[in-house]
Amino acid sequence: MKIFLCVDAAQATALAGAQVQQQIMRKPESVLGFATGGTMEALYAELIRLHRHQALSFAGVRSFNLDEYLGLSGTHSHSYSHYMHQHLFDHVNIQPQHIHLLQGDAADPVVEAQAYEQRIQSVDGIDLQLLGLGENGHIGFNEPSSSLASRTRVKRLAPDTLAANQRYFSADISQPTHALTMGIGTIMDARQVVMLALGTKKADAVAHMIEGPISARWPASVLQMHPQTTVILDAPAAQHLACRDYYTAVHPMGLVE
Ligand code: PGA
Repeated sequence: MKIFLCVDAAQATALAGAQVQQQIMRKPESVLGFATGGTMEALYAELIRLHRHQALSFAGVRSFNLDEYLGLSGTHSHSYSHYMHQHLFDHVNIQPQHIHLLQGDAADPVVEAQAYEQRIQSVDGIDLQLLGLGENGHIGFNEPSSSLASRTRVKRLAPDTLAANQRYFSADISQPTHALTMGIGTIMDARQVVMLALGTKKADAVAHMIEGPISARWPASVLQMHPQTTVILDAPAAQHLACRDYYTAVHPMGLVE
């Protein structure tokens, strides 16, 4: 695991953007795994900035999103499909036929999940998977107790995930209780993982992920077994890490300044 401890969220977000930029410059036909959530919004704004001002081209990029709410169509205002168009796809030159999203309203979610796995395989897998981190340690919607070898499937959302995401749902739109999500095994197959976790609320999960035992209680801890994972943190998210000085010495990103 490479651990980058940044001074603040802006530096961390810029660094994550640079990782994506370098990947696309290395391989313009990269297969990128995209995540959603509040943390990713600023990262996608950074990717749009790089597209507009540094000519970062998404013309060859193919994308697979991590997850989608079960029961929501891709055009639903609270779907992750809608989120992706609003925060990234509508603002860069990604080709519509290169975008892969789980269909939350698929007639048969089991078939949809298996077909998604096959689509990932048909493009020779994911080059770089972006991840956020749940306060309960989830990646995608792989909640605590998820099999560390799981593939894309339906998961019931944990109470703390429902509570954390409740702010996005108003009284007239009921919050989905289930989601389709890439499995942990699916995520682990990505050749590179870039995780961005910001703020005090993530500090416990960050400490378990990096310094705790590998456990389904904290699904992100499985990333300790991934050969090419970069974890990018701001100071509040890193506050419970015991070996901060060591991580800073290995990759001085700003905390020592
Ligand atoms: P957040 O969500 O970026 O909104 O905190 C991250 C996650 O739950 O994976």
